[in-house]
Amino acid sequence: MKTRFFKIDSSDIDMKIISQCVEILKSGGTVAFPTETVYGLGANALDENAVKKIFKAKGRPVDNPLILHVTGMDDVEKYAHSIPPVAYTLAKVFWPGPFSMILHKKDIVPYAVTGGLDTVAFRVPSDTVAYELIHQSGLPIAAPSANISGRPSTTDGSHVKEDLDGKVDAIIDAGKCRIGLESTVVDLTSFPPCVLRPGGTPFEHIEMIIPDLNRSYSLSEGNFPKSPGMKYKHYSPNASLIVIKGSLAATVEKISDLLKSNPSAGVLCSAETVDLYKTPNKLCVGSRSNPMEIASNIFDSLRMFDKLAVNIIYSEYFDVELMGEAVMNRLLKAAGHELIVL
Ligand code: TXA
Ligand code: MG
Repeated sequence: MKTRFFKIDSSDIDMKIISQCVEILKSGGTVAFPTETVYGLGANALDENAVKKIFKAKGRPVDNPLILHVTGMDDVEKYAHSIPPVAYTLAKVFWPGPFSMILHKKDIVPYAVTGGLDTVAFRVPSDTVAYELIHQSGLPIAAPSANISGRPSTTDGSHVKEDLDGKVDAIIDAGKCRIGLESTVVDLTSFPPCVLRPGGTPFEHIEMIIPDLNRSYSLSEGNFPKSPGMKYKHYSPNASLIVIKGSLAATVEKISDLLKSNPSAGVLCSAETVDLYKTPNKLCVGSRSNPMEIASNIFDSLRMFDKLAVNIIYSEYFDVELMGEAVMNRLLKAAGHELIVL
């Protein structure tokens, strides 16, 4: 398949590009587009065949459901039933933004989108390009992250090209995503509402509206995954990744020790420690005093290690404020839960 590329300036959007991409979506095609979290691979959510193309392009298991990208609660009411009042409050506070909510689906939403489930996820992105695409098309756009399944999510147009060139109809490149980590997913069909994935909206903010929010999204107790996405390998770079958890001083000492027996290993670290490691293959995700910076560089760094062709990566533990939960969720998954606790 020949993929069409569009470069777009999100502060001065060329509406001709949007119209061409809207045409592709309306005729059942796939378009990768920027959002403030990560790039999404979109198709008309009401067109079963179009939705199937998303799964094929990504190599995504068909039981892993997709998020509908919509303009607001008016759209949600078209595609969901039995909507609890708290959904309206959450929408008012967190939309547009990195927050997804799960509700009971109406029949109009094909099971291909929901992986056979009777529930469906919704999000209103704040990114201007995503906004225009959804508004101008008048469609709910089903979109998972625009990466090959199992690989790190894409946070830059060049990442999308790497993974999906030749597999999708179009790619809109608007450069780097502002947040760089996916949305927080909350299931409003369970009581109390339950987090299915930590992300760009911190739990602490959601708890101001849902004080008894169930945070136990972890699979570590062997729970049956409520979110099918939780059971699959995720975010993995080519090299194996090991996370080291301890005080910063002990972590630096341990990683430096490990480097002695494997000098060509990669190191994922912070601005506070980067000068302490003796290897050319070190990548700094940012300062621990700037959690948003760390979050926005995680996926890019994992992809960068592929270019450095290291065979093993040692990573510090980033238990930073507010974003730490989401950052470590992605890193530990990428590491296949290989964790050394000091
Ligand atoms: O920020 C984001 O959420 C990005 C951008 C593109 O919007 N999208 C994204 O989609 O991360 P995806 O498909 O990569 O992740 C969606 C997650 C998956 O873990 C999926 O299993 C879960 O949400 N999910 C979606 N619908 C669900 C449902 N009805 N029930 C349980 N989990 C659901
Ligand atoms: Mg994903």
